[in-house]
Amino acid sequence: MKKIRIGVLVSGNGSNLQALIDASRTEVLSCAEIVLVISNKKEAFALKRAQQANIETLFLDQKLFSSRTDYFQKICEEMKKREVELICLAGFLLKCEPNLIRCFQNRILNIHPALLPKFGGKGMYGMRVHEAVIRSGEKESGCTVHLVDEEYDHGPILLQRKVPVLAGDTAETLAQRVLKEEHLAYPEAVRLWIEKEFKNVCAHSSAG
Ligand code: GRF
Repeated sequence: MKKIRIGVLVSGNGSNLQALIDASRTEVLSCAEIVLVISNKKEAFALKRAQQANIETLFLDQKLFSSRTDYFQKICEEMKKREVELICLAGFLLKCEPNLIRCFQNRILNIHPALLPKFGGKGMYGMRVHEAVIRSGEKESGCTVHLVDEEYDHGPILLQRKVPVLAGDTAETLAQRVLKEEHLAYPEAVRLWIEKEFKNVCAHSSAG
């Protein structure tokens, strides 16, 4: 049975990568396989997670490329070489250049730890997002999986999951609550994307 080939871009801990790996090895996402993980950070724990799961990894050092466009061209080439059909950004801290986005038009997903379009955009990453949510007095937050276009945190939304913001929450406690939902949301959104783009692939693979 055909499996959709996924490449993942990471920079850090990789808990969302882990959720995708785990899901791809159960019925949740058995229609997909992760074939390559690329990091822009040598020390990213995400690389260890991938290696432990016997997935090919690459560390690509941005400093060795003369421009951001060249760097993202290299990412595109490495993905194409492995016949990657979908790229998932999972805590990847660089903004994708237009050449990669064109190379994988409508085939790049990102997960953001807030309910977009609120609390997105340049500088909105990590704890800053959760601090801003708490400061604004919002009663709920959550996570968003969306297609990547040329603006930060902007493309069409595939899926959101919500959590309450509780009295006494700190950015850390809220982040933990949101992250749990991210680990459910990302595999589910990938599955939805595959069902839309490839029809019936997921249905067949989970049937056997
Ligand atoms: C997550 O909160 C994700 O929403 C954001 O970066 C964080 C990555 O965490 N884009 P991890 O590396 O997957 O643990």
